[in-house]
This record gives sequence, structure tokens and C-alpha cells, in this order.
Amino acid sequence: MLAKDCEKKIILTGDRPTGKLHLGHYVGSLMRRVELQNSGKFDEINILVADDQALTDNWDNPKKIRDNIIEVALDYLSVGIDPDKSFICIQSAIPALHALTFYYMNMVTTQRLSRNPTVKSEMALRGFNGSSTENDNEAGLPAGFFTYPVSQTADITAFKATNVPVGEDQLPMLEQAKEIVRKFNNTYNCDVLVEPDIMLPENATQRRLPGLDGKAKMSKSLGNCIYLSDDPKTVKNKIMSMYTDPTHINISDPGHVDGNMVFTYLDAFLKDDSQFAEYLPEYKNLDEMKEHYLKGGLGDVKCKKFLLKIMEETLEPIRAERAKWVQDIGSVFDILKAGTDHAVKVTNETLNECRAAMRINYFDDKPSIVADWEAWEKESHQAQ
Ligand code: TRP
Repeated sequence: MLAKDCEKKIILTGDRPTGKLHLGHYVGSLMRRVELQNSGKFDEINILVADDQALTDNWDNPKKIRDNIIEVALDYLSVGIDPDKSFICIQSAIPALHALTFYYMNMVTTQRLSRNPTVKSEMALRGFNGSSTENDNEAGLPAGFFTYPVSQTADITAFKATNVPVGEDQLPMLEQAKEIVRKFNNTYNCDVLVEPDIMLPENATQRRLPGLDGKAKMSKSLGNCIYLSDDPKTVKNKIMSMYTDPTHINISDPGHVDGNMVFTYLDAFLKDDSQFAEYLPEYKNLDEMKEHYLKGGLGDVKCKKFLLKIMEETLEPIRAERAKWVQDIGSVFDILKAGTDHAVKVTNETLNECRAAMRINYFDDKPSIVADWEAWEKESHQAQ
């Protein structure tokens, strides 16, 4: 079934709870979720804390995942996810996701899985060796990790999600999900599963926010992040030491703005030109500021101070909201429980429909199983 043919518009998205969420998550996905939530255009929004997926490369440290469940929920609530409008649920407590993953494993080849670019780069980052021979110096490739795109397909399809707002690195996951949906519906001649559409951030810098050090991606493992829960002093220190332009030694030297993180972050976080009038009135807009930097005569410290003001406009309200929820972790837990109860219900319905399409829903199907057996037996008698 194509998303546009469905009546309901359903969002499913999620994160691995391997640590606190950072600004890369915020601009790449969280900010958009809140906008979509508040647009009123969606019938249902589900946000999945993907703890099972997190275990695929942290199986030896489940405590780390456990400790980050509440942390990630707090991050969601503090950016403006509203529990009256969106469900937040925990993956491992939703049994239908496991069952669907098992059926979908049959819909994909290991060759196809090894072509997934996101999995390939994550394997390289984790030192997992994908070759068919095992070797003592490198970690082998865990089957659970290798197949996590299949489990992610189960996440998306179990909720019958029509829209999946995620960062650009998740594109291959969505392609994989669409292929599995088509294969399932074709094989079992049904239209139970829905093909999801990805929703990428509109601004190119927001799609993949580089780290403070200028490396391709803001990522916990690279240690180049600003966390949503960082206090003002930490944020200030991180911004004051971020990577700019190594050739811009004296203020009067001409500088580069491409690859200069201060300007990259301004591209991602500036909301409108009135922020110049408020904090840096000598420029009307970012173009004028960049022009001055390129020509020479604009110092990094001044640029960084301006960026700090801009970043704090985003971070301060998040911090304030977080401070409220922190007072009442019991209700954060209850929000997770309510979202998970809802998820169990809707995903069980999808699982039942899938099993019915495969005709393996034996215990719902006694009359036809009995009738089929009798017909089959009769036929075999006649044949004798
Ligand atoms: N793979 C996603 C990430 O690493 C997390 C995730 C798990 C997810 N299941 C999902 C995202 C379903 C969107 C939809 O961030």
C-alpha cells in the first residue's frame, strides 16, 4: 500500500538510547518532530526509544542502555515533545516488533544487507569485520548488528507509519524498508504493509551537522558534541574552542567560511535577520557578516560570541523545560509506559494482519484449517 493511499497519517521515528541527545539530533530530527507534532496534520505520532537496536552494538553493556532510557525521554520532553500529542515508547517492550523482524528476515538477502551504506560505515567505525573469514585481530560482524535494518523495518511498518522524519544517514534504512514492504505485500498477495516516506530536514546543514572539530558528523563517539543538557558554561567553552579557519591567524587576514564551524552552525541555527539587529547590529544578515570575514577584519572571538547568543536562544528554553521534568521522573516513566501500552496494541494488530496474510494465524482460523484438512483428506482418498 502506498502511503498516499492510506487515510491516516502516522509518524514513527526514534533514536538509540546510547547517550544523551545532542545538537546534531536536534537540528537533524528533533526540531522537525516538534514542528510536525504541532502542525496538527498527523493522526498519530510515535517516538521509539530503540533500545533493542542499541543493544546490537552494546550487547555487553545493557546498563548503558538502561541508564539512557530516561535520559533520552527527558531530551524529548525538553525539546517540546508533548505527551498529550505524541506517544513515546520502548522498543524491547513491544513483542510484535520481534516477531515481524523474524518474518522480514526472509524478505532480504545477506548480499542486499551488506550493501547498506549506513551499516557499512558504522561497521568501519566499530571495527566489525564483514569478511566471510574470521580473524583474531578484528571483531567479527555480529548477526544482530548486521540485520538491524530489518528490525528497523519492523519498527516502521508495525506502526503503519506513513512518514518517518529522520536525518539523512537514515535514508538507506528507509529504502530497505520500502523494499521489504513491497516484497511482503507481493509474496502474500496483500496490502497489509504501508510504504513509508522519509522526511528530511529542509536545510542542508541541518541534515548532517558536523562536529565542533569540523569532522563530518557530530557524534558521541567522536567526542565533538554539544549536548541538549549541557549547562551554559560548558556550551560557552565548547563554542569558544570550536574549529574555525586555521589560515585565519590575524584578525585582518582574509578568512574562509566554508568548513568553518562557526559559520556552518550559524547556517543551521540562525532563525531570522532580527537576531542580527539584536546581537550584532553592524551586519544586516549572515551574507554581510560572511563577506566581512572573507575580506578580513572580523575576528573569530567576535563571531563565536555571536554564535553563542544564537545557540543559547535555542538551548535556554530546552534547559528550562528539562528542569521542570527532572523534578518528576516518575511521570516521565509513566509517559513511557502509556506510550508503550499504545504501541503494543497497534503493533499487535499489524502482526495479526501479517500472520493472517501469510495464513499462519492458526488459532484464529480453526474452521478453515479443519475444512482444509477434511478436503485434503477426501481428495487423497479419491486419488487412491
Ligand atoms: N536507526 C535510528 C538511529 O540510529 C534509530 C531508529 C530505530 C529509528 N528504529 C527507528 C529511526 C525507526 C526511525 C524509525 O538513530
